[in-house]
Order: sequence, then C-alpha cells, then structure tokens
Amino acid sequence: MAREKWASKLGFMLAAMGSAVGLGNIWRFSYVAGENGGGAFLLLYLGFVFLIGIPVLLSEFSIGRQGQGDVVGAYQNLAPKKPWYLAGFMGIGSAFLILSFYSVVAGWSLYYLWNYINGTFWVLPNGGYGATFQSLISNNYTPLFWHALFMVLTISVVLTGVRQGIEKANKIFMPALAVMMIALAIYSVSLDGAMEGLKFLFQPNWSSLTEPSVYLGALGQAFFSLSIGMGGMMTYGSYLSKKESLPSATVGIGIMDTVFAIISGIVIFPAVYAFGISPSSGPSLVFITLPGIFAEMPFGNVVGFTFFLLLSIASLSSAISILEVPVAYFTRKFNWSRTFSSGLVGSIMFVLGIFVSLGMGIWSGVTIIGENNIMDSMDYIASNIFLPLGGLVIALFVGWQWKKDEAFQASDMATSKLRFVWYGLIKFVAPLLIIIIFLQSVGLLSWLLSLL
Ligand code: PHE
Repeated sequence: MAREKWASKLGFMLAAMGSAVGLGNIWRFSYVAGENGGGAFLLLYLGFVFLIGIPVLLSEFSIGRQGQGDVVGAYQNLAPKKPWYLAGFMGIGSAFLILSFYSVVAGWSLYYLWNYINGTFWVLPNGGYGATFQSLISNNYTPLFWHALFMVLTISVVLTGVRQGIEKANKIFMPALAVMMIALAIYSVSLDGAMEGLKFLFQPNWSSLTEPSVYLGALGQAFFSLSIGMGGMMTYGSYLSKKESLPSATVGIGIMDTVFAIISGIVIFPAVYAFGISPSSGPSLVFITLPGIFAEMPFGNVVGFTFFLLLSIASLSSAISILEVPVAYFTRKFNWSRTFSSGLVGSIMFVLGIFVSLGMGIWSGVTIIGENNIMDSMDYIASNIFLPLGGLVIALFVGWQWKKDEAFQASDMATSKLRFVWYGLIKFVAPLLIIIIFLQSVGLLSWLLSLL
C-alpha cells in the first residue's frame, strides 16, 4: 500500500508547525522559564534550539522520509537487524506519557473557552482567577469531562487520516494565533510594571545557572517545544515526497516555534509582574495571568474567547501529531484500521490522564519523582529523559550509522554551504552536549571533573 502523502510542501510545513506550536510554547515555556529564573534560562534554551534542536529536527525528518515508516519501521527499513528501532518503542512510550497530560491541560483550555462563551470569566470571579483555577484542577469530575472532550476531538482528526484531517485546519489558525499573540504582547508591555517582566525575561541573572536542574530543564523544553525525539516529526517526514526540500522547511519551523515562545514570554511576564503573581508559580501561571490581562483590557471577553479558541486549536494540532506516532505503528504492525487504533490508543491515554488529573486533586499527595506530582513526573520522564534520549539516537543514527553522503542526500543538504556545519553539529556537538547534560543532571559530571 502506498503511503499517504501530504498534498503539498506547504501542507507538510503547516502540519509540522502545527505540531511544534502548542501548549509547549505558551503554557510550558512560560512556567518553565519562570521556575528557572528567566533570562539565563532563555539563553540556554535558545542555544539548545540552534545547536541541538534544529539539527535534530532535520535529522528526524530525514530518517522518516528516507525510511518511509513509523518510528519503529523507519529504523527497521533503513538498518534491518540493527537495534536502532528499539528507540522507536521509547518514542511510543513518550507519546503515551505526553498526550496523557497534554490532553488534561488542553482540557483546561477548553474549559476556559467555555467560560468565555457563557460569560463566567468576563469579570473577575470571586477570589480571583487563581482560586478559580485551583478549584477547577482539584475538582474530581469537571477537568475529566474536558479532558475526555479534547481526547475525542484528537481521535476524530487522527482517524480521518493525516492529510484531510491535519493539513487544512492549520492554514487559518496558525497565522491567526500569531497575530493574536503579537497584539497581546503589545498590550502586555504597556501595563504598569511591565519593565520588571521584560527584565526578568531578557536580562540574564547568571546566578540561576548555578542551579543544576536549569540545563536539563532548558534541554527538555527545547525538545518538547520542537516536538522532536518522539518520532512525530519522523512520522510526518515519512508522508513527505522526495521531491520537496527539507532544510528550508526545517529552519522555518524551528524559528517560527522559537519566536512563538519568545512572544508568549513577552505576553506573560510583564503581566505576571503587573499583577504581582510569582513567576515561579508553576503550571498554573498562564491560566491565572492571561484571564487577568483579559479582564483589564477593552473587549477582553472577545479577546479571551478568541485566545482560548486558538490555544485549544493549536493544542489539537500538536496532540494529533502525538497520537499519530503510536497509531501509525499499530496500524502497520497489527494491520488494525486507523479507526480502531486511534480509538484504542486514545482511550488508554484518556485513562492515564484520569490519574494525571486526580493527581492535582484528591491524589495531590502522590509524588513519583522527588516532590513531583503525577503530571510533573510524567512530564519529567518524557520531556527531560525520553525526548533527549530519542534525539541522541536520531543524531547518532544520522552521524554514525549513515555514511556522510547518505546523510547529505537524505536531508537534501548535499549542495548546501552549511552542510558541514549541520553534519558537525549532528555527529559530535549534539550527542556530546546531550550526554554532558545528562551526566551533569545526575551529578556525575562534577564527580568526573573532580577526578581530574
Ligand atoms: N511541541 C508541542 C507543543 O509545543 C508538544 C509536543 C511535544 C508535540 C512532543 C509532539 C511531541 O505544544
């Protein structure tokens, strides 16, 4: 059976951008940057995006397109009998972990959207948005309803197939979200006290770099935001025809995704300071800050409605790319229909998400990794460990399994002036950096250095 193909290069780019831009840029970026001290974190994150993220993104697309398969199949087609494909199973694991909590958070966004439709959030609720948010996420049932709804939406797009389902929606909504974010950034910067927020985001406070967890946090954020290391971009690459050229698309997607994150920072941090919220409030940051902005601005109800509509759609286009990873694998491996695979996989993720959601209410005492609740632990394992490990395998595959010319040919880099820059990054720099950050995060690096 011929593989389904994107209708055009633009269709592919929109789908890949749709995957990259989502809760990661707005919700996750701002709270992780806030927890890790702002400016210095931003610099690390940018460094990782350019030194590791974009080169790995190009490699992940190349493996998918050259291997013409899902996360497991692409490796098997390219290197039969070698163990590379085992990384594919880790990618499938990442998809289960990520979508289970992603869908819960996207469910919050849908809930907010609903409250902008019915008018509840037009005015500051009793106790403010902070208390309202807390009572939402700790409720036993409400978030589950919205989580279920989001999962049903995701499943219904994935079961219609990537092309019809994914390609079209992004054409309108991505540009709309960009315009909205820029307008909000301008408004936010005009708030009293905005300067403090901009300083927090752009003026590096070097002392935060002594915090060992900052490095892995920035690496995980770069991977999560670019959707790399899981195999989603590999799967999307496998639907791209050999005629299209990869490098320009890759750079476009990488820069676009990063610009979205920075703009979200410019929207959120000035408002955080203007409203006296702590930048390190964690996952609640966006859900408390943004409604605060909307409540103050003219036509805030319309803006709030539009914003949460666009955020929900951006989350949907990311969620689709996550669900697509196991679905592409199961449909091939067990010959299941798309409908059955997406229904089954989506339902399992829904059940896992129930644990995530209750982990913020009745089970909030349950901690898995360190002090982290269920959601933060799943996020930590997926984003800070599995995705960078998946990226490490991708880099090693392209740098060391493939011959140089194969790598250039598969990535359409053969005639690019920058081919050796990319190749050097993927063969040496990215793998070394990832390994060093892993060692550093478990304290092994300082131990090794002390031996010298
Ligand atoms: N990049 C997506 C976002 O920013 C989330 C995602 C992570 C998608 C990992 C695929 C893989 O929302």
